[in-house]
Amino acid sequence: MDVIETIQQRRSTRGFLDKPVERETLERLLSLATQAPSAINLQPWEFVIVSGEEKKRLSKVLVKRMRERNISCGPGAKKQLPEHFVERQRRLLECILPNIPEDTRFDEFINEGSCNFYGAPTAVIITLDKAFSSARLTDIGVAVGYLVLAAHAMGLGTCPIGLITAFDDDIREQLNIPDEKQVVIGIAVGYRDESSPLNRARSERVPTSDVVKWRE
Ligand SMILES: Cc1cc2nc3c(=O)[nH]c(=O)nc-3n(C[C@H](O)[C@H](O)[C@H](O)COP(=O)(O)O)c2cc1C
Repeated sequence: MDVIETIQQRRSTRGFLDKPVERETLERLLSLATQAPSAINLQPWEFVIVSGEEKKRLSKVLVKRMRERNISCGPGAKKQLPEHFVERQRRLLECILPNIPEDTRFDEFINEGSCNFYGAPTAVIITLDKAFSSARLTDIGVAVGYLVLAAHAMGLGTCPIGLITAFDDDIREQLNIPDEKQVVIGIAVGYRDESSPLNRARSERVPTSDVVKWRE
């Protein structure tokens, strides 16, 4: 599969098979994700690969904390967002909503699903040393892009999970991550359940003319 096809096909996976991803497959995936470019080739990222019982334990803690603290997925806005962003969020909801179980509320599905990494057998947690400024979050973003595309090309599904950063302390405690590291994002990784309605949702993109400005 070439890179253009991979980019065009990939969408986030929210329905996974109950099938572990082999260690060698995960090693190959990480060896591809870490080919990402980074400023001054600092490669500031660290990946914690959580599978098996450890992943189940982590999900349990996160779901519990999410309920206790009533944390919800949101756009991370500092102030009221312009209407077109609100509209994009609404359209994503409309795209996912018809595919979730009938008796489940949308926010319940997303919040609980995110904390459970949508049942994926593996969660990849990416951390950044707190000595770095927020400029280095860009490098992590690039690595996430490489990881999700490489995974797709390898026949794996992924879903980036930003919600879990609300539980930074719990994750560090659970996974023995030192205090000097910041949890930047998690990524659910596993084999896609092609029969799951959850994977029918295909998010849209606005026309490039809405987000690209030309200056000549
Ligand atoms: C930084 C980041 C954080 C995200 N956090 C979550 C999350 O917490 N829960 C979730 O269900 N999806 C999350 N997503 C997935 C987005 O909802 C998804 O990428 C977006 O709707 C576009 O859909 P696509 O990935 O299928 O193309 C996140 C994606 C990114 C890039």
